Amino acid sequence: MDLSEMIYKRKSCRSYTGVPVSDKIISQIEGFFGTVKPLYDGIRVKFDLVAREQVRCFLPWTTPQLIAVFSEKKQGWLENAGFMAQQLDLYLQKLGLGVCWLGMGKLGSTASVETRETGMEFVILLAFGEPKGSPWREVSGFKRKSLDEIADKHDIRLEAARLAPSSVNSQPWYFVHNANGFHVYCKGQGLIPTKMLSSMNRIDIGIALCHMYISNPDSFNYYISNSAPEVKGHRYIGSFDI
Ligand SMILES: Cc1cc2nc3c(=O)[nH]c(=O)nc-3n(C[C@H](O)[C@H](O)[C@H](O)COP(=O)(O)O)c2cc1C
Repeated sequence: MDLSEMIYKRKSCRSYTGVPVSDKIISQIEGFFGTVKPLYDGIRVKFDLVAREQVRCFLPWTTPQLIAVFSEKKQGWLENAGFMAQQLDLYLQKLGLGVCWLGMGKLGSTASVETRETGMEFVILLAFGEPKGSPWREVSGFKRKSLDEIADKHDIRLEAARLAPSSVNSQPWYFVHNANGFHVYCKGQGLIPTKMLSSMNRIDIGIALCHMYISNPDSFNYYISNSAPEVKGHRYIGSFDI
């Protein structure tokens, strides 16, 4: 399914009717889980539908149903989880549902037991449901850095990454051109890094890479380069051809 148009329309939805999503749509969503493309082969990832009662979150607007993302903890697991779950974000919005990444949410004790049994770690939640009002917006409604701020050279091919959602809209990505595409870097956290935010930022980088993949599905090729230049204040994450 072509999800590329959603990159230019999606938004975080924080206003819901509270009416549960129908069983028919839920089975469609579960069917989509199996079609999501990974960034890294060889990292087991699982999406589970969880009910609000299984979630600990103080935000007042959360939805009756959520998706919990679990992953094996291997090299690149957070970028991989962001890459995969962003495909869900776009898919759910294409169905006309509201969606919001929920870094502040945690699973309650029942669900945690299950994750220990499967040898996976809980990564993050996506809240989704029937939106109050439109789940989409005009491209002028995006609050983002400019193309010049996110790369070594202005390049319109990065527009899809520029519009990606990120934790507290931090937009930690930085791109450096190479022969067939780009190296991607994550901005450092300043003097007092918090573990939580840097994990979130690695998920954010995966989300931006997902937008590059969705916009270039036939040519997108992700790899780790051993000749990526250093960029001051940034950590190298990976490279991709498009
Ligand atoms: C990894 C991640 C975690 C997030 N966690 C939360 C959250 O806990 N609560 C919330 O209201 N929004 C959360 N967001 C949504 C961001 O605040 C939002 O994507 C960003 O401000 C950009 O706005 P937009 O998605 O409407 O374009 C999260 C987004 C990402 C990517």
